[in-house]
Amino acid sequence: MAFLRSKSSKVEMLKNVPLFRGLSQRQVEQIARLADEFEVPAGKRLASAGDIGHELFIIVDGQVTVTTQSRRTIKLGPGEFFGEMSLIDGGPRSATVDAATPMKLLVIGHREFWELLNEAPPLAGKIMRALSQRLRDAEAAVTA
Ligand code: CMP
Repeated sequence: MAFLRSKSSKVEMLKNVPLFRGLSQRQVEQIARLADEFEVPAGKRLASAGDIGHELFIIVDGQVTVTTQSRRTIKLGPGEFFGEMSLIDGGPRSATVDAATPMKLLVIGHREFWELLNEAPPLAGKIMRALSQRLRDAEAAVTA
């Protein structure tokens, strides 16, 4: 379900999302223009491993469970994001992601995602750092 809020309160909300800290007012306004806000109930499937992925999701409120293809489960919460892998390499969803609680999410489409990375290079750096961390964690889980 989409929900409405004024442009200025959306910008204020975005400034509190850690992923967007350090961005300029203009960059945050750009994100407000490109990102849609959604609420979903607990239990909603947000991504299915193997499917084609069209969006990046940023968690504003609530928690998701990521279930990897090796059946490892990872919880992600406010300020974290998922769905970036399919957008970056065009491959299928690498894991299944379910809402573990009722959630507020920001959703950014494929074209808008690339537009945003061009407009806000610090954001690209943060996404690359998170990807690198996820790879290290996955490697550590395999070798544990
Ligand atoms: P994508 O492959 O597009 O869709 C599933 C998402 O789950 C994936 O992008 C990542 O955002 C997330 N994901 C996959 N594996 C992990 C992991 N090991 N740790 C955290 N998130 C993951």
